[in-house]
Amino acid sequence: MKTIAIAMQKGGVGKSTLTRSLAVAATDAGLNVLVLDMDAQQSTAQWAERRSAELPLVRFVTEIDLPKVLKQADEAGCDLVLIDTPPARSTEAPAAVEFADLVLVPCSPDIEAYEQLPRTARLARTTGKPAAAVLTLAQPNSRTEEEITREIFANLHLPMAPAVIHRFKVHRDASREGLSAQELEPESKAAQEIAALWSWVCAELQLDTSAPVHKKKARV
Ligand SMILES: Nc1ncnc2c1ncn2[C@@H]1O[C@H](COP(=O)(O)OP(=O)(O)O)[C@@H](O)[C@H]1O
Ligand SMILES: [Mg+2]
Repeated sequence: MKTIAIAMQKGGVGKSTLTRSLAVAATDAGLNVLVLDMDAQQSTAQWAERRSAELPLVRFVTEIDLPKVLKQADEAGCDLVLIDTPPARSTEAPAAVEFADLVLVPCSPDIEAYEQLPRTARLARTTGKPAAAVLTLAQPNSRTEEEITREIFANLHLPMAPAVIHRFKVHRDASREGLSAQELEPESKAAQEIAALWSWVCAELQLDTSAPVHKKKARV
């Protein structure tokens, strides 16, 4: 079982949206996926309530219960856990990072996010966990924004995921319906970006998406 923590001090940078999109991509790839929502606002748990599909499984969890829930997930044959964390100086994010195999740090291209970035980068660094920044909510067709952000990430010694998530309305529209962008508009640019990020994540974590498909078939 692999675990991804999605963490960033700043709110509104797309942590929850990214968690859900990757969780749906992983589910579509045939993996047994569990999403843990550690944010007391429970926006990802509420997204699951709006959703008609049963998968991916979403559970709200506190940091006290986190080790136990992860152990249960592993024993139940879960392939991938994605942990959505709250913003601000929470104790949840460090707990999630502690158990993660990969830390994704979504960051939007604005000064408020840049200012919060060093703390989150430090959190990943001090735990020695592999981490990568994901540029989110980027203006479509703006290369300068991407270049500036790349430099900021580099100064913090934070590798940048090769796939950039641009600002597209479909993310918001999908959220309203308990969907992810690739479900609402499979042919969209937003969907392609998520697919690119997902395939990079698979490679980073050496996730095998071929065997679980057979598992899925076997269950039918
Ligand atoms: N790539 C995107 N394009 C457009 N809107 C987005 C995108 N990512 C997130 N949003 C929207 O921005 C808002 C904040 O996103 P959210 O994922 O809740 O951030 P966080 O979890 O970091 O607080 C939500 O309304 C969400 O629908
Ligand atoms: Mg959130």
